[in-house]
Amino acid sequence: MRIHEVPALSPTRKSPDTLRSARWFAPDDLRSFGHRSRMMQLGYSEADFMGKPLIGILNTWSELNSCHAHFRERAQDVKRGVLAAGGFPVELPSLSVDESFTKPTSMLYRNMLAMETEEQIRAHPLDGVVLMGGCDKTTPGLVMGAITANVPMIYLPAGPMLRGNYAGQKLGSGSDAWKYWDERRAGNISEAEWQGLQGGIARSAGVCMTMGTASTMTAIADAMGLTLPGASSVPAVDSGHQRMAADCGRRIVDMVWEDLTPDRIVTGAAVRNAAIVAMATGCSTNAVVHLIAMARRAGVDLTLDDLDALGRETPLIANVRPAGKDYLMEDFFYAGGLRALMAQISERLDLTAMTVTGRTMGENLEGARVFNDDVIRPLSNPVYKEGSLAVLRGNLCPDGAVIKPAACDPAYHVHEGPALVFDSYAEMKSFVDDEKAEVSPDHVMVLRNAGPLGGPGFPEWGMLPIPKALIRQGHRDMLRISDARMSGTSYGACVLHVAPEAYVGGPLALLKTGDIVRLDLPNRRLDMLVPEDELKARAAAWRAPEPRFERGWGWMFSKHVTQADKGCDFDFLERGFGKPAGEPDI
Ligand code: FES
Ligand code: MG
Repeated sequence: MRIHEVPALSPTRKSPDTLRSARWFAPDDLRSFGHRSRMMQLGYSEADFMGKPLIGILNTWSELNSCHAHFRERAQDVKRGVLAAGGFPVELPSLSVDESFTKPTSMLYRNMLAMETEEQIRAHPLDGVVLMGGCDKTTPGLVMGAITANVPMIYLPAGPMLRGNYAGQKLGSGSDAWKYWDERRAGNISEAEWQGLQGGIARSAGVCMTMGTASTMTAIADAMGLTLPGASSVPAVDSGHQRMAADCGRRIVDMVWEDLTPDRIVTGAAVRNAAIVAMATGCSTNAVVHLIAMARRAGVDLTLDDLDALGRETPLIANVRPAGKDYLMEDFFYAGGLRALMAQISERLDLTAMTVTGRTMGENLEGARVFNDDVIRPLSNPVYKEGSLAVLRGNLCPDGAVIKPAACDPAYHVHEGPALVFDSYAEMKSFVDDEKAEVSPDHVMVLRNAGPLGGPGFPEWGMLPIPKALIRQGHRDMLRISDARMSGTSYGACVLHVAPEAYVGGPLALLKTGDIVRLDLPNRRLDMLVPEDELKARAAAWRAPEPRFERGWGWMFSKHVTQADKGCDFDFLERGFGKPAGEPDI
């Protein structure tokens, strides 16, 4: 089986004089003279670029993005493909929103990348773009901007890193860091072992190799038809990744001639396919926010309730950590990758959806097979019979909250217990580190002021650490609630994305330590058992906190970011806000 196939060049439909770049280069006027002379300053002859599709390679490489460490070389593979197909490649550095080093949280900058992408495409003489991303926020950021810009685009996913390894044990990004950290806090891991884990958990270029946010998001791009078929599963350092990159370069040139724009690909059917695939793979909770934001850019009104409904009917069949048991993304690739998974659930997908190949999703999936049915399970033997995600409502979260049932101890699916409320991460941290803290496994830990505005920027704090006092007693899970997100590699009984968030006066702001909280997952409810008139009195006494930012990007973010259930896009970037910007005057 080939991982992906690139169709033969189709008959030219666009002529060179109708290329977008021709507006910059073709006219016999002073401005175009300037554009041509500046291309010559770069060392190119007219024969290099005139009348050819100019392909922008939006490269989110940076020396602080370990997941994209291979992108400098990989851009050369893309260029090779573009040139071979008769296009002209230009590489444009783009904001590298890396997950590990960006503080207070990378989510503060997803929309910055989305804005940059949209404007880079619009402002430059580009006929098509290859988007190079993969680390969590880069996929939605690049795709959101490119959907709005609407010139032909293809997504080149960074690919997962190799399996982690320590002392012969497989290690999974994130998931195993949390797990071993709990053991270290319990005093079960030596300094030498800890050092060994540190060196073995991320041992090649590529994105986190669990089914965390990065791999969920690239799977979503793949299932939406925005990548070459199955491209999201190819490990970053596999030579197949280089070939896939060159194929992206070849294919985008043809997409330009075919005028295959994102609006023909990102339709309601494509979004639905992507949501179903996300559920079947184990779906990082972050995917919910990004999927809604991407869909809204395309004019598809995807809601939390739609996702809950899909979650109820879609079995989780990718046995990949953290929701699955033993396997990692490298195993998933060897088992057939995303094409095989999609073929397995093809009856649930809309196979007529158009893709970047110029063919339908159904055509792209032809011949896909599963090679290991313990990694990619048959529908008769799922990892979890319902999808990996549930949406809750109730008097604590009138606009919704999400939980990942597959990743939490079933003992907590229906649970009632007293709240332990923390207003800040620091307050919560000193409590969990206190070995004498009074806490039982029935308690419900609550962290608030950690949402899109309160965090600020919606940090991944939602997997609140289990208090040391409980760890010593052997407990590894408890019910936790927050208006934060959590890393897609995390797990546990964590209710996230409570909306509206506490910082803007959502009901979570009214909860007090000792109040009884009730989670009823089968009925999708999350409530505080506090009388209505008492809540009214608390609401009347609530005061808005101080603003987090008074200048700069943070200020702009605070003025315009939407709540979690709307995808946290900026209101003024959403489709339908004012008339489209259109093409620039030249
Ligand atoms: Fe980049 Fe996990 S840190 S994908
Ligand atoms: Mg992450």
